[in-house]
Amino acid sequence: MKTKRILSGMRPTGPLHIGHLVGALNNWVKLQDEFECFYMVADWHAVMSEYKDTSLLTRWSIENVADWIAAGLDPKRSTIFIQSQVPEHAELCLAFACVTPVPWLERCPTYKEQMKELESKDVSNYAFLGYPVLQAADIALYKADTVPVGEDQVAHLELTREIVRRFNSFFGEIFPEPMHRLTATARLLGLDRRKMSKSYGNFIALGETPEDIRKKVSTMFTDQERLRRSDPGHPDVCNVFAYYQAFAPDIAPARRTDCTGAKVGCTDCKRELGDRLAEFLRPLREKRTALLADPKKLREILDAGAEKARKVARATMEEVHAAVFKKRVASSGG
Ligand code: TRP
Repeated sequence: MKTKRILSGMRPTGPLHIGHLVGALNNWVKLQDEFECFYMVADWHAVMSEYKDTSLLTRWSIENVADWIAAGLDPKRSTIFIQSQVPEHAELCLAFACVTPVPWLERCPTYKEQMKELESKDVSNYAFLGYPVLQAADIALYKADTVPVGEDQVAHLELTREIVRRFNSFFGEIFPEPMHRLTATARLLGLDRRKMSKSYGNFIALGETPEDIRKKVSTMFTDQERLRRSDPGHPDVCNVFAYYQAFAPDIAPARRTDCTGAKVGCTDCKRELGDRLAEFLRPLREKRTALLADPKKLREILDAGAEKARKVARATMEEVHAAVFKKRVASSGG
C-alpha cells in the first residue's frame, strides 16, 4: 500500500496544450507509481475569476479530464474528480477562512500580480482574495503530504502550510503540512517565444489536428540571427530546436549538426518538426477522441472519482467538526 499521498489540480479555463503535457501531466502520470494520487479539476477556482461567463466551464472540465486520461492518468489507480462535486472543499475553506488573517492574502505575490494583469477581468471580488484558502482546503481535505506544482504555485503552498499550522495550533494536530514538489522540466516556450499561454494563442493544443499542428509549427520563430539559408544556425537559442529535444529527441543531435553546418534550412526543419509533433501526439489525440465520443463513460469515471474523494473528505470533516465544535468523536465512546 502506498502511504504517501498527492493532490494536485488545474483550473479548467481552456484547452490543454503541449506546455501542460511537458510541464505537468507527464509528471502526474509518473507519480502514480509512487504515490496515492488525487487529481482534481479546480472548477470553483476557475469561477473565482471567470464568474462573468461560465458557459464553457463544464466543457473544459470534461475535455481536460479526457486529456489527462489520454496522457496516461489511470482512473483505476488515481482518484480523478471535479472539485465542485465534493462540497466538503467549500466547507473546509470556510473553516480555514476563520483562521486566515486578511493581510496574509493581500500580501500574496500572485494576488498582487493578478490584480494588475487581469485588468480585463474584475477580480476585486472577495472569493478571489481567498483563492489560496480554497487551495489549502483542497490539499488538506485529503491530508496530502506532497503537491506537484509549477514555480508559480510555490507561494500558495507556503500559505497552505501557514494556514494549516495556524488551524492546528487552535484545534489540534489534524493536518500535515504539505510540501510542494517542483516539476523538473525545461519550460516550453510558445510558438512566438513568449510564455505559452491561452491568452496569447501561441500554443499547440493536445487535441489539435495534424494539419493545424503542421500549420502552426510552420509559423514558429527560429534563430533570428540566421538570415540566409547558408548561414550557420544556433540551435541552443532556437525555439524549434527546443521542441525537437522535447518531441523528437532521437533526431535532435543530427538536427543540431545539420543546423550549425547550414545543411538544412529553417523551413524544412520546421516541416519535419510539424510531422514529428503530429505523430508524437497521435496516440494521445486518438485516445482523447475516443473518450470524448463516450461522454457517459467519462461521466461514470468522474462520478466514481467524486464518490471516492468524498469518502476521504467526509472523514476529515468529521474530525474538523469534532475539533471546532468540541464534540466528542463517536468512536471515542459517545
Ligand atoms: N492554483 C492552481 C493553479 O492555478 C490550481 C489548484 C487549485 C491547485 N487547487 C489546487 C494546485 C490544489 C495544487 C493543489 O495551477
